[in-house]
Amino acid sequence: MSDAPAGRGGPEQRRGPEQRDGMEQTLTTRALAEINACVDLAALEEARVRWLGRRGALTEQLRSIGSLPPSERPAAGARINLISERVQHAIEARRADLERTAVARALAEGTVDVTLPGRGEATGGLHPLTQARLRIERIFRNAGFEVAEGPEIEDDFHNFQALNIPADHPARTMMDTFYLKDGCLLRTHTSPVQIRAMQSRAPPLALIAPGRVYRRDSDVTHSPMFHQVEGLFVDENVSFAHLKAALHRFMEAFFEQTLSMRLRPSYFPFTEPSAEVDISCVLCHGRGCRVCKHTGWLEVAGCGMVHPRVFEACGIDAERYTGWAFGAGIDRLAMLRYRVSDLRLFFENDLRFLAGFAGGAP
Ligand code: FA5
Ligand code: MG
Repeated sequence: MSDAPAGRGGPEQRRGPEQRDGMEQTLTTRALAEINACVDLAALEEARVRWLGRRGALTEQLRSIGSLPPSERPAAGARINLISERVQHAIEARRADLERTAVARALAEGTVDVTLPGRGEATGGLHPLTQARLRIERIFRNAGFEVAEGPEIEDDFHNFQALNIPADHPARTMMDTFYLKDGCLLRTHTSPVQIRAMQSRAPPLALIAPGRVYRRDSDVTHSPMFHQVEGLFVDENVSFAHLKAALHRFMEAFFEQTLSMRLRPSYFPFTEPSAEVDISCVLCHGRGCRVCKHTGWLEVAGCGMVHPRVFEACGIDAERYTGWAFGAGIDRLAMLRYRVSDLRLFFENDLRFLAGFAGGAP
């Protein structure tokens, strides 16, 4: 704030009318100059208080009239009121100016350049696991298989017993199961869909069953909810050779490259014989890398010939029919196809990760 306006509290009684006149003109000029110099509304308000406020310069002038000789008071009062009015008008005019400028500035800053290109709408894409599943479905449909579904909440019979896993069978501990009320459970694999298909229809059967499965399991390559695809083929004279050929064809179609495949003897209660399916590493082509743990091989599925007891549980003549089945982890296949190193990335739904697959087609 500038120095106090002149004349404040001065000994007016000692000044003659001419002196007062000159001083009042100076006051007016100063007040108007200060007001017009205000660059914003806050400064203007300060000036108003300085001149017209309760302790403002002009208010003080008005107050000092009391000390004048009575004959001079009316004229002096009228002059000071006139000055106050002029100052008041000047303040109002300046305020209107400043407000207009503020609006103009706000408008200028908020200007929309309609010639700029739009921000664009990000288009969503299929989740990489969905792309992988659709790809698997397409390959098998082309080979004449149908796509079947089953419930994720299963009963003990379909998930275990009919698959030749009775209550006391040690294989139950192979899969850490989430149990629900009333003997229900979250299916631990897609194999119960085999049972439902064979119970409801007579051979020949050629189907795959993709879907969610659940196990108490969690690390870089294990998730408590993951996806499997089951394959089932039942007819007369079906052999293990058919199984190997079908799987090999499928793997090469899925990864779009020539692969070696090997079957290692294994054990599943619902197949006999049983095998683990290894393919040559899709990243290093068998030379050995971090992904295949320098073995050159990747385990991608379990498989085998449908156990006669499973046929019996479903009412299928095990003397007449044979069949093969396999179960593969869709998430694992997707990790390998899309070069994803941590399974959990598929389930975190981080858009930065998912955006990398947005344009992809199965
Ligand atoms: C089974 O679940 C058998 N039902 C497969 C089968 C079907 C064999 C038909 C014979 C005939 P296994 O527990 O090995 O088998 O699981 C099969 C595949 O699921 C594994 O090779 C792996 O790719 C995947 N998998 C298993 N556990 C997990 C998990 N926690 N997270 C992600 N993938 C998993
Ligand atoms: Mg296994």
